[in-house]
Amino acid sequence: MNPLNHVAIIMDGNGRWGLKYKNSRNAGHKAGLHTVEKIIKETINQKIQYLTLYAFSTENWKRPKAEISYLFSLLETFLIRRIDDLHRQNIKLKIIGVKNFTIKLNKLLSSAEKKTSKNSKLQINLALNYGSKFELINAIKNMIKKKDKINETNLIKYFQTKDIPDPDILIRTGNTKRLSNFLLWQIAYSEIFFEKKLWPSFNDQDYKRVIKKYKTIKRNFGNV
Ligand code: IPE
Ligand code: IPE
Ligand code: MG
Repeated sequence: MNPLNHVAIIMDGNGRWGLKYKNSRNAGHKAGLHTVEKIIKETINQKIQYLTLYAFSTENWKRPKAEISYLFSLLETFLIRRIDDLHRQNIKLKIIGVKNFTIKLNKLLSSAEKKTSKNSKLQINLALNYGSKFELINAIKNMIKKKDKINETNLIKYFQTKDIPDPDILIRTGNTKRLSNFLLWQIAYSEIFFEKKLWPSFNDQDYKRVIKKYKTIKRNFGNV
């Protein structure tokens, strides 16, 4: 049975779910938040140490302003309402990506990170304004600036995921088989599950099925 330390998820399909059931993309984003809660719970049940959630990509700025501000207002409300409880549950929150939002949201994010920084049951990495290409370019620039020898160890020490093991599992919901600039380096050997269901319809049973399947896969890492 494969050990399981890190699950990364591309939470895709909110907009389509919202349009289909509520005639509004934003309603899909709201519903998606319930799935986030369910998945966090099951991740704890499964005793998995790291959960990385792709919430907003560097490319998502192309979306209509109203959708972007709705997404960030959902996040604000979530942080205000839920951070104390997450803290009580010994969950650590870390943001990966560049925090260049409103002053209010930047502060909320930083204080949530600070508050939970010593927690150890589960680390949630929330990918916000995250893009893997930016992360790579930034790391390369740093290596050059610091006159580091160019090698793997020196490159990854400038990633925001530097202290986090690479994902064992990558899940993308929403019936699309692409990576959309997410953790391109880190998923070199991840087991990838493309799920048909839209994110708000994805549930803990689906999650458990993926985990069960993962555990039986023969991971070679180039070996035989
Ligand atoms: C993913 O759902 C959530 C974010 C990108 C914030 P989408 O909003 O991309 O949903 P679809 O893919 O349009 O259905
Ligand atoms: C990926 O979904 C980003 C997140 C889930 C946050 P997108 O919906 O933005 O991806 P594309 O544009 O369809 O590739
Ligand atoms: Mg999408």
